[in-house]
Amino acid sequence: MDNQVQQIKERIDIVELVSSYLKLEKTGINWRAKCPFHQEKGPSFFVSPTRQSFKCFGCGVGGDAFEFVMKIEGIEFGDALRTLAKRAGVELKQFHAHPELATKRARLTEICELACRFYEKQLAASQAGRQAGDYLQKRGLTGETIKKWRLGYSPDEWRGLSDFLVSRNYARDEIVEAGLAVKSEKSDTPYDRFRGRIMFPVFDLQGQVAGFGGRITEEQKQLAGAEAGAKYLNTANTELYDKSRVLYGLNFAKTEIRKKDACILTEGYMDVILSHQAGFENTVAASGTALSPYQLQIIKRYTENLLVAFDMDLAGGLATQRGIDLAQKQGFEIKVILMTLEKDPADIIQQNPGDWEKAVSNAQEIMSFYFSTAQTRYDAVTPKGKKEIADFLLPQIKKISNSILQNHWVRKLADIIEVSEQAVFEELKKTNLSRAEGQNDSSRSQPAANPVPKAKERKFLLQERVLSLVLKNPAHLNLLTDDRLDCFSAEFKNIFAFFKTRQVQTAQDLSQITNDLQSQEQGIRLVLESCLFLSELYETEDSEAEMQTCLSVLAGLRKQRALADLALAIKQAELSGDEAKSAALMQEFNQLAKIK
Ligand code: CTP
Ligand code: MN
Repeated sequence: MDNQVQQIKERIDIVELVSSYLKLEKTGINWRAKCPFHQEKGPSFFVSPTRQSFKCFGCGVGGDAFEFVMKIEGIEFGDALRTLAKRAGVELKQFHAHPELATKRARLTEICELACRFYEKQLAASQAGRQAGDYLQKRGLTGETIKKWRLGYSPDEWRGLSDFLVSRNYARDEIVEAGLAVKSEKSDTPYDRFRGRIMFPVFDLQGQVAGFGGRITEEQKQLAGAEAGAKYLNTANTELYDKSRVLYGLNFAKTEIRKKDACILTEGYMDVILSHQAGFENTVAASGTALSPYQLQIIKRYTENLLVAFDMDLAGGLATQRGIDLAQKQGFEIKVILMTLEKDPADIIQQNPGDWEKAVSNAQEIMSFYFSTAQTRYDAVTPKGKKEIADFLLPQIKKISNSILQNHWVRKLADIIEVSEQAVFEELKKTNLSRAEGQNDSSRSQPAANPVPKAKERKFLLQERVLSLVLKNPAHLNLLTDDRLDCFSAEFKNIFAFFKTRQVQTAQDLSQITNDLQSQEQGIRLVLESCLFLSELYETEDSEAEMQTCLSVLAGLRKQRALADLALAIKQAELSGDEAKSAALMQEFNQLAKIK
């Protein structure tokens, strides 16, 4: 297995891998981005092509390609191995000999994949399936599109899919766990969740099927009437699928979102599919839920520009509004694509893709959108209308954190309702955002998964600097006399000691030895990894002088520390009445204080 891991590592380029998730920019020999693992303004996440590793100096995470995939996808090693093997085109020969890696997720993924094929086949083969296919064509989907999105049909039978999967040696319980069958009280045998529906597989970022949405067919709706059930049915949450986390279409959209530096956000499956077909391949959907912080964070890996294409009419609801507010707070630039009532993107595109193109390019900046909404909805002439407009817009203006921008909209509001700016400002002061609107409620906008990075201690930073300088120029090791080394903490001392015993002198010796060290303990590995990055990042004119400065500051810190310890001991000795001891300590204190 190690052999295969090695083989995969050799074939994968971490820069390419990471850039399929994040926008990387080149800096020197490395690449950098805003860290996807914590919220930050400036980019402190680095990727090294030479060492095939990544490191964030903000939150401290780092590692190789495997660790990156595990972390960003939230998966176990076995799953990362499969994902990367696929990417590298390496066939995992020993895979089945290692049952511990055939994790539950893998079983569920297999089930979803088989189910998807089953549904696809039904769409083409069965009579009812073909009717469903005809309907999709009527909606404007081409055969190619149906294939690309792997649309299917679930037969209107109680156990059509289940029996098929059982014949392929999957247990009924597993089918339930994959969200495709439901346990009933009436019978011991679970029955299919999706029956007689048009099936939309929902893919994960790698394009693996993780769940499904099933749309009722027009025939069934007419036949069953009120009994027909919801228009869409989704896989219940499973190990693989979580409705609030998944973004439909992102597997196909991610590259284009990055390229266009904008993401079009729609409401439904059909909107996404038809958008892609019409050439708007940067489109995704949150599938009928309010945008979650998690989804926003995924989008943020690719772009900070959102074009929202859903019902923004205020009847559109609080949930929508909350999603938008959240996005604003996370720093997204938001534009609204204006749509005529009663028509969603799918309808517009089906009628005339050109209309959609126009709508997208005429998207309105969100504040302008709020203003025009207010102006069409209320009467800016009557006193009542003026107040309504202000009540509608003030909370939006209040949310703007930049004062210049805020001032701009205050003036605009004052203009529209023809009152003084001062009056608007006074009302703005009185405007309280409710909890739902949650201004400054950063605990909510920040998903729990984000650790707040701790500031590094000064001593640690100095030690890092010294190690980086040595890595840049191994000859500096000579400056690290035993006395100097005493100022360092154990992890750094060990690294330097190791360099010395191996008699590192040239950069080449060094790279050999850092490899040996890398395979040692975790603590050393982490320190070394970040210092290797640092040594590449910073230019320095006179590195020897800088070494000397760092070393003398470190020595100074050690002295301060020792003096503080002595002062404490003296106090304790005095308190306990031990005069001899306190005198001796005092002398020691004075001596140490004299040394430069
Ligand atoms: N949705 C859902 N469950 C429902 C209704 C809707 O999960 N009971 C989700 C689906 O992802 C759907 C989206 O919300 O695609 C938007 O719903 P809707 O506008 O009702 O459907 P459309 O996507 O417009 O579907 P169609 O055009 O086929 O009517
Ligand atoms: Mn629709």
